[in-house]
Amino acid sequence: MSKESKDIKILGIESSCDETAAAVVVNGRDVRSNVISSQIALHTLYGGVVPEIASRKHIEKINQVILQALQEANTELEEIDAIGVTYGPGLVGALLVGVAEAKAIAFAADKPLVGVHHIEGHISANYIEHKELEPPYLCLVISGGHTHLVVVKDYSHYEVIGKTRDDAAGEAYDKVARTIGLGYPGGPKIDKLAREGNPQALSFPRAMIDGAPYDFSFSGLKSAVLNYVNICQMKQEPMNEADIAASFQAAVVDVLVSKAMAAMEEFDFHKFAIAGGVAANSAIRQAFTQQCEKRGYQFYYPSPIYCTDNAAMIGAAAYYEYMSGVRHGWDLNAIPNLKLESR
Ligand code: KG4
Ligand code: ZN
Repeated sequence: MSKESKDIKILGIESSCDETAAAVVVNGRDVRSNVISSQIALHTLYGGVVPEIASRKHIEKINQVILQALQEANTELEEIDAIGVTYGPGLVGALLVGVAEAKAIAFAADKPLVGVHHIEGHISANYIEHKELEPPYLCLVISGGHTHLVVVKDYSHYEVIGKTRDDAAGEAYDKVARTIGLGYPGGPKIDKLAREGNPQALSFPRAMIDGAPYDFSFSGLKSAVLNYVNICQMKQEPMNEADIAASFQAAVVDVLVSKAMAAMEEFDFHKFAIAGGVAANSAIRQAFTQQCEKRGYQFYYPSPIYCTDNAAMIGAAAYYEYMSGVRHGWDLNAIPNLKLESR
């Protein structure tokens, strides 16, 4: 076999928040294993992610998760071409566990080390199931920590054209869920409950920002829901949680759709993708499917398992970084506020 056609096998590692994950991915698109150890049940007790507990759990789980990923892929460490790891953004203590582990494995096994931006990972999740998808395209990244409209100019080459000024989309979902007593993580619970509610029952604000058409703001929407719930409680009036969930979600969907579609038009793209935990939302997927169909755009979204945090997406992103020559040294550090464009 010639050198050019050799398959590149990446071991991806992800530990930026509350999932300890490892995966083996071939040529950036072919997932051989995808192991995720979720800490959700643990953090549910506290209503959200507790950073100290997250770091401790990552330490406990990471070796086991990596071994399982190699085993399920039927792969020996020697057959791996590079180790890809998320080094930011995220919780610093959580990131450090993955970065230290990746450096130790890369050093011991004499493998190249490739640091990956978590958002680049989310975007690259789209390559796994859409083998034909190639840049350039527009991607809306909606997760627990980020709401970014990103022009994907090329693999590893991004321009952020808009982001949230305050809460991320997932944060808004989680906070609204907590307000109406649904618990953590709120996104999937609101998604489900909203199906039983009327999205027009309550009128919540759709924030548009003067002079920044692609920036987002969800804190006003979150406060409006909170105020509505407080008023109902003060007046001892009954409230319909399903209507609240559906009306809140309708406001989120309207804002995401109108901004993303305006950017598609302005930048003259015909391919649109979504990524991140909130991209698993059924109403959001449905709204974009309809809008893209209407406009003749190709619409791409990952399966839910590749929307929320996982290491297959890190393996996919690491492949393209590796192919473009990126190699990190033993001084690779966790960077909690790493910027997508400044790497
Ligand atoms: O991408 P992710 O796993 O972690 C971050 O990088 O932040 O995203 C987690 C977020 C949480 O806020 C969670 O509530 C939200 O994704 N989420 C959803 C759904 N599934 C997960 N939000 C709305 N609808 C869903 N079905
Ligand atoms: Zn994430």
